[in-house]
Amino acid sequence: MDANGKVALVTGASAGIGKASALALLREGYRVVLTARRRELLDKAIAESGVGPDRFAQAKQKFARLDVLFNNGGTGAPAIPMEDLTYEQWMTVVNANLTGAFLCTQEAIRIMKAQDPKGGRIINNGSISAHAPRPNTVAYTATKHAITGLTKSTSLDGRKHDIACSQIDIGNAATEMTERMAKGIVQPNGEMMVEPRMNVTHVADAIVFMASLPLDSNVQFMTIMATKMPFVGRG
Ligand SMILES: NC(=O)c1ccc[n+]([C@@H]2O[C@H](COP(=O)([O-])OP(=O)(O)OC[C@H]3O[C@@H](n4cnc5c(N)ncnc54)[C@H](OP(=O)(O)O)[C@@H]3O)[C@@H](O)[C@H]2O)c1
Repeated sequence: MDANGKVALVTGASAGIGKASALALLREGYRVVLTARRRELLDKAIAESGVGPDRFAQAKQKFARLDVLFNNGGTGAPAIPMEDLTYEQWMTVVNANLTGAFLCTQEAIRIMKAQDPKGGRIINNGSISAHAPRPNTVAYTATKHAITGLTKSTSLDGRKHDIACSQIDIGNAATEMTERMAKGIVQPNGEMMVEPRMNVTHVADAIVFMASLPLDSNVQFMTIMATKMPFVGRG
């Protein structure tokens, strides 16, 4: 499928899911804007893509439109009892996972409703934690539940501007964030368990599919997870 030069912006594109998705969109023909704090990793991702830097840009001025925003960047807090979490630890997660996605959404809507042809698609990275918590993850779990609210509000408010909004809820894609799952992670009953993970390319393929739909069609929610990870069946 040829994206016909559509413009996509991926946050948290320096590693993991964001990087894999940005490169997959690029292979599909999108012009891709990669954002993250670690510039050297973004440069490395661009080098790995094998595509010249002319296909990348840092700002809207370069491409003058935005067709797809993938609100992906995110983080967790240390796995400690919620009563011990500091205000700063809480706010770091709220800012990265929720406020960051909201601010990017605001800016994307401003661009998408004003451009010609108007409209676009916003894909939010939720999580299995948008449905069920792991022990000692209140900030991550609360912000990922909040992402569902952001997705629903954006879907509703975006309709009049031809803006579609989707949410992908991922479980255990093999990235730096989930390395502890492969080593053994605490379960609700207190036991440690090594959890299965899946290749991150399956998430990138899903993002490419969601992005490829015409604006009158939308994957509202998608759950993609390691088949045998504890989630369904109460464990
Ligand atoms: N891996 C999974 O199984 C899984 C499951 C469910 C949801 N997710 C979600 O997928 C997204 C990406 O996770 P990942 O697994 O790819 O993790 P990752 O490999 O650790 O990558 C995280 C990305 O987010 C950016 N980021 C981290 N902290 C940030 C902050 N405070 N402000 C802005 N950007 C920040 C990082 O870029 P810089 O540090 O360079 O800024 C990096 O590019 C997250 O939203 C995560 O919650 C992942």
